[in-house]
Amino acid sequence: MSTVTISTLRVGRRRDRPVTADARPPVSWTVDAEPGWVQSAARLRLDGERIAELEGEGCVLVAWPFEPLQGRRVHTLELQVVGADGSASDWSAPVTFSVVRRTEPWTAPSIGLAHPDRPAQPVYLRREFDVEPTVVAATLDATAHGVYQVAIDGVDVDDHVLKPGWTSYRHRLALESTDVSALLRPGRRQALTVRVAGGWFTERYGFGSSARRVYGDQPAVSIELRLEHSDGRVETVRSDERWRASSVVELESSGLYAGETRDARRHQEGWDAPGFDDGVWEPVAVVPLPPSLAVEALDVEPVRRIEERPPLAVLTTPSGATVLDFGQNLVGRVRFTVEGQRGATVTLRHAEVLEQGELCVRALRAAESIDRFTLAGRGPEVMEPEFTFHGFRYVEVSGWPGELRPEAFRAVVLHTDLDRTGGFGCSDHRLERLHDNVVWSLRGNAVGLPTDCPQRDERMGWTGDAQVFAPAAASLFGVDAFLASWLDDLALEQGDRAGLVPTIIPDVLGELSDVAAAGWGDAATVVPTVLHERYGDVALLRRCLPSMRAWVDRAHREAGPSRLWETGFQYGDWLDPTASRPDKAAADPGLVATAYLYRSTRLLADAYRAVAEAEPGGAGERDREDLVAAQGGYAALAEEVRQAFRHAYLTPAGRLMSDAPTAYALTLAFGLVDDEPTVRRLGERLAFLLRARGYRMATGFLGTPVVLDALLDSGRSAAAEQLLLQDACPSWLYPVTMGATTMWERWDSMLPDGSINPSGMTSFNHYALGSVADVLHRRVGGLAPAAPGYRRVRIRPWLVSALDHARVHQETPYGRAAVSWRRSGGSVTVVAELPAGVTASVELPDRPAFEAGSGRHEWVVDEPRSSTQAPALGVDADLADLADRPGVCALVSRRLAGADPELGREFDEFVRWVPGRTLRAELAAVSPPPELVASLDAELRALTAPAS
Ligand code: BGC
Repeated sequence: MSTVTISTLRVGRRRDRPVTADARPPVSWTVDAEPGWVQSAARLRLDGERIAELEGEGCVLVAWPFEPLQGRRVHTLELQVVGADGSASDWSAPVTFSVVRRTEPWTAPSIGLAHPDRPAQPVYLRREFDVEPTVVAATLDATAHGVYQVAIDGVDVDDHVLKPGWTSYRHRLALESTDVSALLRPGRRQALTVRVAGGWFTERYGFGSSARRVYGDQPAVSIELRLEHSDGRVETVRSDERWRASSVVELESSGLYAGETRDARRHQEGWDAPGFDDGVWEPVAVVPLPPSLAVEALDVEPVRRIEERPPLAVLTTPSGATVLDFGQNLVGRVRFTVEGQRGATVTLRHAEVLEQGELCVRALRAAESIDRFTLAGRGPEVMEPEFTFHGFRYVEVSGWPGELRPEAFRAVVLHTDLDRTGGFGCSDHRLERLHDNVVWSLRGNAVGLPTDCPQRDERMGWTGDAQVFAPAAASLFGVDAFLASWLDDLALEQGDRAGLVPTIIPDVLGELSDVAAAGWGDAATVVPTVLHERYGDVALLRRCLPSMRAWVDRAHREAGPSRLWETGFQYGDWLDPTASRPDKAAADPGLVATAYLYRSTRLLADAYRAVAEAEPGGAGERDREDLVAAQGGYAALAEEVRQAFRHAYLTPAGRLMSDAPTAYALTLAFGLVDDEPTVRRLGERLAFLLRARGYRMATGFLGTPVVLDALLDSGRSAAAEQLLLQDACPSWLYPVTMGATTMWERWDSMLPDGSINPSGMTSFNHYALGSVADVLHRRVGGLAPAAPGYRRVRIRPWLVSALDHARVHQETPYGRAAVSWRRSGGSVTVVAELPAGVTASVELPDRPAFEAGSGRHEWVVDEPRSSTQAPALGVDADLADLADRPGVCALVSRRLAGADPELGREFDEFVRWVPGRTLRAELAAVSPPPELVASLDAELRALTAPAS
């Protein structure tokens, strides 16, 4: 009989700490078992006594099998599993988890400054309270209009940063519940203090002169401390008129975009300890929270200080400024230790890039991102902003007293405390750097919510960015709780707008974001689908059905009976590099919108099916019938869209009426065509168009995530490899050649000459184009989910010919899965490891597809070597033949630009790498000097010479 042990046991959805606000938290576990082991039953034991018996194989987000959990308590859970072969594990070690659930409604009012003298004024609040000797436990619940931290006798209650984060403030505020028993001193008088600043609540949103505060002018906090006595009595200390407030504190001003100004001379000694005389402090303004506002605990990881990094270099710029280079574009802020005279002010200015050696802050637009610190002059002082964050790699330091030592500084990296769950590596370090850049951009754009960028006056939850990036995010980190919470905000915002999903969640741009935009609004259908696919969370999918449906219905109303969505404003294939404006992509916006209309309608039908089939349903028969009926209805509607799409956009010869790469990529990847010959012809045309551009990127936000899949699935792997490994601008690897450490917003945020793209919209930390990380995992590594939660996987490595090896791993809900492959001699060895409970379909190029179960597998794949050696090619060769040789297009472009940038640009714009013309003839159009043509000829021959 086999042996089986429990590896992990998790309660709820949070991954950082065993805390839940859910009365019925789902339970998940993984086991370590011999290959082929299958669970037939499981037993859960709550608090050492109550036992629940569960049938079957379920181990991912299993519905809570006990009575709902009440109130706040610490519980233990133990697990035993039984295999179909009769084997049984021992009981697991008990897992301790706390429930921080308020059963009473939230009624504590908010308190803040009664007489602020300017908008968004930070405030410190305090009151004292007596802790009777009979107090045995205490919980603190709090939320804020703004961002805050609470301390008891000067000790912060937790390590959360920028809490309570940014939710749809008009609808809900996140309540933070903390067990503060350890901070209490029964029998003593203690001080309860709060520091609060405006954060997201008082930020001014909008572009240029239209920017304004949309939520409120002043920060405030709402708080309740519950003291539990040994006799069961509960005493509360709440926000009320008994508190005192001061704005004459070291935190003078604070803004997410602006940065912080702190003056240590204004520090009031002992203000956060009992016994401080707050007689000169002001009474507080007490305002009830609107009754319509939900104040609720969220099961989501908080923002924390995740990592600290020292500066790698101290630079002196041409103008003489001192700049710290942290070597990595990151998100957070700088902490430093300084010693100097009272009144001296140290100023930090942040930027992502240098331009001509100087700090480039133009791209930040209205976000000043300046922190100022005035010293008290009391020996070494440690300085760090508290309620702001910046996106930066470089920091200009001015006003530093004495000699600046790099050891005095640390960059503090902030983001939601997500679990890293996936990794990728391969023999090309440029691809590894690209992957790292995606990881960093996800980290930087997960400060409380999924954002477009973390640095300029934006940092908003743009739906399109989250939609295209969700699969990559899920390949890298445990983003299920994080994105699920954002989806709750999405549904709330959508509820006010007849199904329309504003393009920003939470919405702060009003009319500007109140548009039904394909690819953006589709976050409502795509993100829940991705979370279901990657984490197996069918309960979440069920919760999202109304929102998914409302969006699909709305999009159909926009499209009308033609089933073609061709009206209204569309962002379309945003930031197509071939377009003159970001919103004027080459791909027809109607075709793009209709492709998304099909996809979302399809996803909705699929979601209904998944929920109907989920076991144990929890759903009654009636409910199941409704779900099946809805599934049928939307599947039929999707088919109507597909037919309309084909009728309108597909030509009889197998082309698209909008002859742009993104049009082909979406049509193929979304399954708008599925008959073999048409798929082949569309793939051929897509490859032709990409080659015509020398295999440089020709897709924007919407085409980029799917272009490699579209090529690979239509038999165009050579073109896919050219595109992936291209490093001339625009391409995925071009930023890597320019020293990028994050993903850029534009393919050319930095131009080849090192200057910064002059557009008013240039970020160096935007994850959208990093959607390719998911392709690296699924295709290059070859590990893709094939059933919800990776219960079944598809192992299908794309053996990229220029790579010697590649590997991918994924912490799936069932445990760690990994695939790696390595070339040696004429064969490739593929190794796969699958956790218990997971099966795979394996597709290797030299044999028919087959099945594999859990455990370790090794397969040797024969790679037939091509016997005919291709000849060396020079400038007299055909353009298409040249383009198909790796590196040729980039080399030609670099050599021309190197000789004369203008010539390079002119040629890049002119050249079409299509058959039937030689490179020499094409070059003639820009009249390069004959020596250049001759040297190019020699270089090309050397590059393309057969390897001996
Ligand atoms: C944001 C995007 C967003 C776009 C809307 C930009 O300002 O940074 O990433 O999706 O606007 O098209």
